[in-house]
Amino acid sequence: MSDKIAVITGSSSGIGLLTAVELAKAGYRVVATMRDVGRRGRLDDAAAATGAAANIDVRRLDVTDFGTIPAIVDAVVREYGRIDVLVNNAGFAVAGFAEDMKLEEIRMQFETNFFGQVAMTQAVLPVMRRQQSGHIIMVSSIAGLHGTVSISSYSASKHALEGWTESLRLEVNGLGIRVALVEPGSFQTDIWTRGAVMGEKATKATSPNFQRSLRMRERVQSVPKGDPIGVAKLIAAIAQNPNPKPRYVVGRDAKIQLALKRVLPWKWHEKLVANFLKLDG
Ligand SMILES: NC(=O)c1ccc[n+]([C@@H]2O[C@H](COP(=O)([O-])OP(=O)(O)OC[C@H]3O[C@@H](n4cnc5c(N)ncnc54)[C@H](OP(=O)(O)O)[C@@H]3O)[C@@H](O)[C@H]2O)c1
Repeated sequence: MSDKIAVITGSSSGIGLLTAVELAKAGYRVVATMRDVGRRGRLDDAAAATGAAANIDVRRLDVTDFGTIPAIVDAVVREYGRIDVLVNNAGFAVAGFAEDMKLEEIRMQFETNFFGQVAMTQAVLPVMRRQQSGHIIMVSSIAGLHGTVSISSYSASKHALEGWTESLRLEVNGLGIRVALVEPGSFQTDIWTRGAVMGEKATKATSPNFQRSLRMRERVQSVPKGDPIGVAKLIAAIAQNPNPKPRYVVGRDAKIQLALKRVLPWKWHEKLVANFLKLDG
C-alpha cells in the first residue's frame, strides 16, 4: 500500500462511495466521510467485495457544519501526516421551476453544493501548500456549464463552483496543487430519488408551473442514466494524473448537451430544449 491519503465527502452512496472504493483499490488510504455514519453499510459491503476494506477509514463530516471542518481535517493530518487528494463530492438537488423557489431553499442548495466544497478546500489548502503537492477534485455537473430547467438553484450552485474552482486553479497551480472539475451528465444514483428535494411551492397544484413541472419530471425520469462507476474511475485517474486538465465532462448525454450548446445558434438550442422537455403551454 502507498502512503497516499485521500479524503472524500459524501461517501455513503453513489459517486462518492464508488470513488472511495476505486481509490482504496488503487492503494490510497481513504478517509471516507459522510454526514451519517449509520449509513456506511453500502460502502462497507462494496469495499469488502473488492478486498479494499482495510484501506477505508469512515468518519463523520457534514459539509454544512462549517465550524467542525477544520478540526476534522486537523485530526486526519495528525493521524496520517498528510492529505494528497481531496474529492469534494457531497451534493444534492433542489427541484422546481425558478419562479417557485423560496430564497431559503436556494440558500440551502448553495450551503451544500458551493459553500461546503469551499469550506473543505480552504481547510485542506494549508496542508497541501506545506506539502507543495496535492489534488483537489470538485464534483460539479454538466448543469454547471449549462442552464437546466427545473433545477435552476442546483445549476446556479454548480456554476458558482465552476467559477470559484477555475480561479482557485490559477491561484494554486504554481504551488504544486492540482485542481480539476468533473462534470457528469445523468448517472444512476440516489440524487434522482433521495437526493432530489422538491421546492415546497413547486409541489403545490396552485403553482402556475405545476402541469409543466409534472410533464418535465416524467421526461427527466425517462432519460437513460449511466453507470456511476465510470465517474468514479475517472476521478481515481485524475487523482493519479500529475497534470490533470481543468475540467472533465463525463457521460454521453453531457457531451451531446455541451456540443449542441456550443454549435447551434442559441434560438435553435432553446427550441430543441423546449420541445424535448415539452415546456410550452
Ligand atoms: N448522479 C448524477 O446524475 C450526477 C450528475 C452530475 C453531478 N452529480 C454530482 O455528484 C455528486 C454526488 O452525487 P451522487 O449522484 O453520487 O448522488 P447521491 O448518491 O445522492 O450521493 C450524494 C452524497 O452526498 C451526501 N451529502 C448530501 N448533503 C451532504 C452534506 N451536507 N454533508 C455531507 N454529505 C452530504 C449524501 O449523504 P447522505 O447519504 O447522508 O444523504 C450522499 O452521500 C454531487 O455533487 C452531485 O451534484 C451527480
